[in-house]
Amino acid sequence: MKVGITFNLRKTFSERDSVFDSPKTIEDVKLALTSLGHRVKLYEADSETLFYILKIDRPQIVFNMAEGRFGVFGESFVPALLDELKIPYTGSGVQGTLVAVNKVFTKLILQSIGISVPKLYQVVNSLKEEITPIDKFPVIVKPVFEGASIGIKSKSICYSQEEVDKAVLKLKERLGNRPVMIEEFIDGVEVTVGVIGNFPPKSLPPMEIDFSPLNKRELNATNGIQTFTFKTNYSEKANYYLPARFPPEVNTHIQKMAVKAFEILGLRDIARFDVRVDKDFTPYFIEVNAIVGLEKEHSDFPRMYKMLGYDYNDLIKDILNSALERVKNNMRVTY
Ligand SMILES: Nc1ncnc2c1ncn2[C@@H]1O[C@H](COP(=O)(O)OP(=O)(O)O)[C@@H](O)[C@H]1O
Ligand SMILES: [Mg+2]
Repeated sequence: MKVGITFNLRKTFSERDSVFDSPKTIEDVKLALTSLGHRVKLYEADSETLFYILKIDRPQIVFNMAEGRFGVFGESFVPALLDELKIPYTGSGVQGTLVAVNKVFTKLILQSIGISVPKLYQVVNSLKEEITPIDKFPVIVKPVFEGASIGIKSKSICYSQEEVDKAVLKLKERLGNRPVMIEEFIDGVEVTVGVIGNFPPKSLPPMEIDFSPLNKRELNATNGIQTFTFKTNYSEKANYYLPARFPPEVNTHIQKMAVKAFEILGLRDIARFDVRVDKDFTPYFIEVNAIVGLEKEHSDFPRMYKMLGYDYNDLIKDILNSALERVKNNMRVTY
């Protein structure tokens, strides 16, 4: 088939650029698709001529990796464009990406179907807003949008009102005034859960991220959560367990919740949820990623596939096939 890849290229090593794909990742996806027998062409999503080139080339399907460079809803840009051009593509559409990129929307929707989520204390849109006193610590202060742990530091976990005020101010300065949320901090074990396919979506077993092999300095910069420093410097030092080291029924329950969440959020083909599991084994759904990282050696989904005995090409094939099957059935193309 004639397959296009849409992507945003990582151009600097800045925090903001870390969500974008490196030339190597784009090449790895291209190689995987080529080895599956497809004719592949690359489309940089922030090129001024994207609309016209796609309209003229008309790939039979697009493998979408684009996060969007500007604005908080950048992930929805390529899906909207491709819908308008009537070109099918892998992954979630406008609705799925739009909901997933907003951690407050995601939380409210999941809560409405009985999935446990951390309690939301406040969304701070403007620095002129008063910060409501918090009755229970610790809390975490983090961006409503963003990904790749941008803006997440060990000091994002706050134990007093004073720490919260400081963390909000710092994060606002750093994000150029984008919205910040204050939510309950879930003490517990961190897992990530992959969901793939549509009829029905299939959940992989949760993968546990165990920070204990990190040394003291690394642990300080990590603080038991996936900080930006952890993601960029220490992620290879953690231990990963798939399935997570919980009783089997806990893992099964998390998988069921992940599938339910995937469906209610209007996601398609692939997504990955971050979940924290407390000492009573209650899984709290933290967020979902509609455009999953596909860095061959470091991203969670490729790592999970490897741990299950599959390889990178299998993952790329499964994403593409999910989309092709969906398109063939003419199902869920409208969101
Ligand atoms: N409510 C929370 N309780 C505990 N840890 C959290 C909470 N929210 C976020 N974290 C930690 O911060 C990390 C990054 O936050 P997340 O919401 O997943 O943002 P991103 O989109 O940048 O991945 C999570 O993987 C987790 O370790
Ligand atoms: Mg996350």
